[in-house]
Amino acid sequence: MKNTEWQDDETHNHERISSNVWKSEDVFQEQLQLNIKQLKKPKEEYPSHWLEFFAVMDSIAIPKEKYKFLDVGCGCGPYIDLCKNYNVSYQGIDFSPMAITIAKKTWGNPSSFSVGDYKDLSIESIKDVDILHLGALLDVLPSGDEAFKFILNLNVKHLILGRVHFTNEKSKSYTLKAYLGKTFVRYEHNKTNFYQELDKRNIEYKQFGTTFYIKGRR
Ligand SMILES: C[S@@+](CC[C@H](N)C(=O)[O-])C[C@H]1O[C@@H](n2cnc3c(N)ncnc32)[C@H](O)[C@@H]1O
Repeated sequence: MKNTEWQDDETHNHERISSNVWKSEDVFQEQLQLNIKQLKKPKEEYPSHWLEFFAVMDSIAIPKEKYKFLDVGCGCGPYIDLCKNYNVSYQGIDFSPMAITIAKKTWGNPSSFSVGDYKDLSIESIKDVDILHLGALLDVLPSGDEAFKFILNLNVKHLILGRVHFTNEKSKSYTLKAYLGKTFVRYEHNKTNFYQELDKRNIEYKQFGTTFYIKGRR
């Protein structure tokens, strides 16, 4: 079998694993319980990717009229709470109906959440979105590089990519057993290619730990 065929099989297999695991109610309940516990802590003790998110949000000059914030791959919805001190109107989408059911029940704002796949976004469908956020989405996708380029091509005004992971080898997806004994997909981008992708577009960006802020041209 040629190497490329093997890689296609692997990606296909990882797509299946990924779409199965994100259907489970217990995965999102576990995430929700963890998030609720974390939200009760003093802010200084929040997980580092939340603090990085605040650092990015603090660096965006949000006007008096609210900014529209779209959280893609919102999961059980913790970022609606993390956004509460910012002048934004929050919307979250996730391809998992289970995640959306839980998010709708949890945060007292059911109309802020709906089912949606990042692959269905287009420049037209998000033309009024000011801030597009992907928190821990690229690092769970079997084809993180493809998703990264797709999202960059939407050229949104302010883009936040949380929990981006790198390798010096070729970009790769792999599986690992995490909580509840379930198998999850993880993705690491080839570091050089990732930065080249940003540099060749000649766009402004800043890095805060594993979180990227990218300024689009719209
Ligand atoms: C690691 S969780 C992150 C949840 C949340 N953003 C957070 O940071 O707490 C990844 C989320 O991405 C969602 N997801 C995976 N593939 C997706 C896709 N193609 N479109 C939209 N959401 C997707 C999963 O259902 C899951 O809720």
